[in-house]
Amino acid sequence: MAQRQELWHSSAPLSAVYPLSISETPGAFAIRPLHAGDSLDDLTELLHRAYAQLAQMNLRFMATHQSVEVTRKRVTQGQCFVAVADGRIIGTVVFKDPAQTSGCTWYDRPDVASFGQLAVEPGLQTRGLGRRLVAHVEARAIEAGAREMALDTAEPATHLVQWYSRLGYRLIETANWTHTNYRSVIMSKALPGSPANEQA
Ligand SMILES: CC(C)(COP(=O)(O)OP(=O)(O)OC[C@H]1O[C@@H](n2cnc3c(N)ncnc32)[C@H](O)[C@@H]1OP(=O)(O)O)[C@@H](O)C(=O)NCCC(=O)NCCS
Repeated sequence: MAQRQELWHSSAPLSAVYPLSISETPGAFAIRPLHAGDSLDDLTELLHRAYAQLAQMNLRFMATHQSVEVTRKRVTQGQCFVAVADGRIIGTVVFKDPAQTSGCTWYDRPDVASFGQLAVEPGLQTRGLGRRLVAHVEARAIEAGAREMALDTAEPATHLVQWYSRLGYRLIETANWTHTNYRSVIMSKALPGSPANEQA
């Protein structure tokens, strides 16, 4: 099967650009599945760098401190995508289809997909790359037949709750995971074709 890869020019505001071919775009970045040859050490270090701001808020997200072995486990619990520029991983997200999404009432629904372990290189944040990664996995969720895309984040991380709200996610429920030191909120977005969107 042809490998899905999206290319974007990385020097312009990402909200204002369209997919381009690689030959036209020196400095372009691509969103593609994690390859077997990609360094999980580099991926783990990126996660630690990106989540350091949350660690400073005393929010013990797994990605603030997880080992390479935990990264290996988490990327196999779904499909991991990476944004790559000049051969370097600058962003990542893990997509889980409905069969892989479980652990709370909303996640256990058969029509709910989810994503997690979302991160953008700190120096490249607020340029639209995070939004591109979310859009990428939302497209995968639609392909997988999901009607809702969900995520969880720390309730005290109000900047993240606001950021996801701006992307169309609404609050669903709360959860207390054993591996974190905060209460989580589950947020979800109706995908095109879902009854919620057809009524809108
Ligand atoms: C959360 C995260 C993935 C967002 O990625 P990003 O590339 O910085 O976000 P984007 O630039 O795509 O955000 C889209 C919009 O939100 C704005 N935005 C992003 N972060 C913002 C912030 N902290 N404050 C205000 N606006 C912000 C962007 O400017 C952009 O605005 P626009 O729609 O007017 O163009 C990234 O900040 C990150 O890796 N954070 C650390 C790890 C983390 O929190 N992961 C999620 C855990 S649940």
